[in-house]
Amino acid sequence: MPTPAGFPTVRPRRMRSSPLLRDMIRETVLRPSDFVLPLFVRPGTGIRTEIASMPGNFQLSPDTLVDEIGAAKDLGVKSFMLFGIPATKDPEGRAALSDDGIVQTAIRTVRKAFGRDVYLIPDECFCEYTTHGHCGILCDVHGALDLDNDATLPLLVEQCVSHAKAGADMVAPSGMLDGMVQAIRAGLDAAGFLHVPIMSYSAKYASGFYGPFRDAAESPPQFGDRTTYQMDPANGDEALREVALDLAEGADIVMVKPALSYLDIIRRTKEIAGVPVAAYNVSGEFAMVKAAAANGWIDERRVTLEILTSIKRAGASIILTYHARDAARWLGAG
Ligand code: PBG
Repeated sequence: MPTPAGFPTVRPRRMRSSPLLRDMIRETVLRPSDFVLPLFVRPGTGIRTEIASMPGNFQLSPDTLVDEIGAAKDLGVKSFMLFGIPATKDPEGRAALSDDGIVQTAIRTVRKAFGRDVYLIPDECFCEYTTHGHCGILCDVHGALDLDNDATLPLLVEQCVSHAKAGADMVAPSGMLDGMVQAIRAGLDAAGFLHVPIMSYSAKYASGFYGPFRDAAESPPQFGDRTTYQMDPANGDEALREVALDLAEGADIVMVKPALSYLDIIRRTKEIAGVPVAAYNVSGEFAMVKAAAANGWIDERRVTLEILTSIKRAGASIILTYHARDAARWLGAG
């Protein structure tokens, strides 16, 4: 007679009885190579201005960016997302397109210092470059200014090609424009950058959790909000449609953003994508942990590693996070 599968024969606690056994059967393990560290760069030299709401994160100039990347690399973090804060803004965000633009310059400088030992992923968007702070150029829709989808696409392609020319390893369009992946793929291929992958911010929500980032990147919208292009936090099925469209357009990696309030979306994306899923543990998520830790209300190390593990367990194989350095240090320390 087989034993009925239930208590007292079955005791899940048996498998938790030893730390060595727990190590052996752990399903999700974080590695520093899972992380991409976002960094902010602006023109100048010797700049290292801490972002008040994001302790330990700085606006940097290309020279101090090299130092920052060197230090992260020593901890095992070797992939970086780059955001540029240009010297000048205009309604079209033209500073984003110049081969001597801040991100292009930063990529060349970092590449010169570290060669291919670091992986550089510029964020592809215009909100840091436009006077109005929206993610592209504007047009009139129903009597109000709105993002001009199709007119922005060629500019986005130009930005990506310019970054690829400067030596970007991958591009990551974040503007939630329809057709952006298709346009960028065609543009990169035509310019000879067939090997440069696209990580698309496929399911990016209109989220309150971007607050600290907009201070860091000096990119808040000067009027209105981003609800005509970023997604409604209430929608899940729509995220899967966005993911499917990006895959059809040739996305190599699909991203869900933010991460923590969207773990269900990460899981559902993982189930259909068939490509690596990235998740962006955004500035507001980071700031909450730092603020609570500074007050002594939570154990920062424990909570951070638990959060990052949850994002990976949900299905993300790449985690964009401002915790990358701390987490790599903690993981290295065992
Ligand atoms: C847009 C962009 C944003 C973030 C990454 N890319 C801001 C926004 O959409 O308003 C947010 C990242 C974060 O909060 O950490 N270029």
